[in-house]
Amino acid sequence: MDDVLAFLDREHDRFLAELEALIRIPSVSSADAHRDDVRTCAHHLVDHLRRIGFQRAEVISTDGHPVVYAEWLGAPGAPTALVYGHYDVQPVDPLELWHTPPFEPQVRDGLLYGRGAVDDKGQVYMHLAAAEAYLATRGRLPVNLKLLVEGEEEIGSPNLDAFVASHSDLLAADVGVISDTPMYDADHPSLCYGLRGLAYLQVEVEGPASDLHSGTWGGIVANPALALASILAQLKDDEGRITVPGFYDAVRPLSDAERAALAALALHPTRLAQELGVSTLVGEAGYTPLERLWARPTLDVHGLWGGFSGQGAKTVIPASAGAKLSCRLVPDQHPDAIAALVAKHLAKLAPNGVSVRVERLHGGRPVITPLGHPALQAAGRAMERGFGKPPSFIREGGSIPFVATLVEELGLPCVLLGVGLPDERTHAPNEFFHLVNFYRGMRAVAYLWDELAALPASEFLSAR
Ligand code: BES
Ligand code: MN
Ligand code: MN
Repeated sequence: MDDVLAFLDREHDRFLAELEALIRIPSVSSADAHRDDVRTCAHHLVDHLRRIGFQRAEVISTDGHPVVYAEWLGAPGAPTALVYGHYDVQPVDPLELWHTPPFEPQVRDGLLYGRGAVDDKGQVYMHLAAAEAYLATRGRLPVNLKLLVEGEEEIGSPNLDAFVASHSDLLAADVGVISDTPMYDADHPSLCYGLRGLAYLQVEVEGPASDLHSGTWGGIVANPALALASILAQLKDDEGRITVPGFYDAVRPLSDAERAALAALALHPTRLAQELGVSTLVGEAGYTPLERLWARPTLDVHGLWGGFSGQGAKTVIPASAGAKLSCRLVPDQHPDAIAALVAKHLAKLAPNGVSVRVERLHGGRPVITPLGHPALQAAGRAMERGFGKPPSFIREGGSIPFVATLVEELGLPCVLLGVGLPDERTHAPNEFFHLVNFYRGMRAVAYLWDELAALPASEFLSAR
């Protein structure tokens, strides 16, 4: 491996410059104004992939933002890895809170600042660097590599399932590899084996045909803002449990072994509360904070509107009020089923005199990857070689909808080799990436191909 590692060391600065160039392209998938930037980013990646020696690299159109697909299949008999990531990024608002502009990357104290630095451009780039290192030094990779980098992850991958359905041969592989998650903390290199899913809803409470003077009419019409507050307040009980009937029916209980493993990670609730700027941690009774984060579903409100919120006072009964809310889901909850249950309950909670309209936004299925597969053990060894310490096996609270497709539909073992850290402000102003993990991550990926190639072929699907 010395040749490959030496290349990674030698090209250190160029890799950083190339990642910065990628961050400069404002590929915000949710904004129509950035449609062309998203496409530009896809083409930029394809140009790079061709340059570093992928045999095939293309921008493939979908009904939404394009997908980048690339492959190097020159290792007959060796396993095929499908690397998945995303080149789209979250919006940058509130812009005024950024210390330097989000699309003008900057390194300060070993941290690379910029939107997408860690989520997910930096982590996608680690894979490009590791592949280049093999191709440049040996002219070949130890495994066959397929790369699928999508442009719609941050908006819930609305067109990816259709893409997968129509390109199943293209995506056939033995193992999925995703670098898009944080590690437990700086002292715990980690491999992630579970992600929560998501069901996102928008609720609109409608009352009178137009806003009404609250003196003339107050007292005889239901107030939609108050009705919304009352509906939302009833969604959780005093024990932090979600009150939607049937909500927990499909939740897979934690095993004693898993509870013990999570307890061994020793989270410090007071320290964490302080870091987050809250007076105390809260949550569902009967579960530890890590269990609540990784293995229990949630319900949260993301935004609320209705009536007057300008300067001063205005006496009005608003015609309508609304909220955006979502549930993080755990196996075996299904986003469609949960969205239907929540929508039904919201309608049932509506007081007399208002009506409730619920719209489904995006969603994604939760997933647990089977831990026993040799590919995961190989990834454990690769992490240990890249980070100098054996990894902790963790779950995460966030969602990557495509992972459930990989595991459940394509039947692949999945390695979630993410090297972010929880403090990196993903989705928030001043997102950054700890550069030390950018470089260690490239090495870990390089070791992963080495470790996977060393496994007996009989361990993989293609051998069966
Ligand atoms: N990289 C994240 C997923 C993630 C975040 C996993 C934190 C584990 C911990 C991904 O880019 C993301 O933000 N996903 C969205 C999915 C949604 C838009 C369907 C999320 O989790 O909100
Ligand atoms: Mn991501
Ligand atoms: Mn994200």
